[in-house]
Amino acid sequence: MSDVTSLKEQLKSLNLEYAKIKDIPQSERKAFGVKLNERKQALLAQIAEAEAAAESENIEPIDITAPAAPNQPIPTFKKGSKHPLMTELDRVIDIYSRMGFNVMESYQLDDEFHMFESLNFPDGHPARDGYDTFRTAEGFIPPAHTSTMQHRALLRYKEQLEQGGQIAVVIPGRVFRNEDVDATHEHTFYQCEGVYVSEDATVGQMLGLLKNFFEAYYEQQLNIKTQPGYFPFTEPSLELLIEKPKSLGGKGDGWLEMLGCGMIHPNVLKSAGIDPDKYKGFAWGGGIDRLVIMKYQLSDIRYFESGKLQFLEEF
Ligand code: DAH
Repeated sequence: MSDVTSLKEQLKSLNLEYAKIKDIPQSERKAFGVKLNERKQALLAQIAEAEAAAESENIEPIDITAPAAPNQPIPTFKKGSKHPLMTELDRVIDIYSRMGFNVMESYQLDDEFHMFESLNFPDGHPARDGYDTFRTAEGFIPPAHTSTMQHRALLRYKEQLEQGGQIAVVIPGRVFRNEDVDATHEHTFYQCEGVYVSEDATVGQMLGLLKNFFEAYYEQQLNIKTQPGYFPFTEPSLELLIEKPKSLGGKGDGWLEMLGCGMIHPNVLKSAGIDPDKYKGFAWGGGIDRLVIMKYQLSDIRYFESGKLQFLEEF
């Protein structure tokens, strides 16, 4: 008999002894009960220990070189696949890389300085409220946009700029906002940021570059337009819209806002030690989810984070 079985037998007979309590004189009952309980606890502990020991003894190492057992049906596996957002993000990065952009990855946990100060949001600035930021108990910020990386991108490639080159970086990443979720709003989504600095960067270059990007991504000519926007880290600030093409369900009347952009504010350049009198830059940032939604004419942004296999298998 194994240790465990004999211990369990002992426990059974011990349990029977509880029935004797009623035959014991009142004055001795308490002591009797306490003793029984002590013995029971000790037995239970021994059983747990013996069970744990038996379990680790019984583990047979797996022989990964063993041939499959003959005559057994081969199990069918569902093959996993890349998440559609990651596939599309790769395409986005590929287009920018071919234009000559470097790629950095954004952080998933950031701080007050990179989220606000370095981007020219002074303490108490009302535009801070526009970002619905989450905060951890320790005071870190899961970034509400990929612009949190601008300062790092400027520092990282500053030397290249000062040696007569440019700063040209795109920064994809996951961002988080504490906002109500519906078909067009998610608390977690992806953005791609772009930063370009040279001695003579202009709004015209920026719009040309972004038009090229969207045309490469959607593989067709597109109409774009801008409308004024406001971001503390750009001056002027613009929102870029593209006209929804017929091939993607457009009826000739729909303009979709795709990203925010503008000329980098002198204070943002200064905070990275770049002289705004000598260098000019532009930056932009927009949602990847939105890009993909239009491409596949999806109706609900929440599918992306849902983990619904039925949805994911369509890609
Ligand atoms: N970070 C902004 C947002 O998520 C978008 C944006 C606007 C990014 C202007 C930029 C920019 O780089 O220059 O709302």
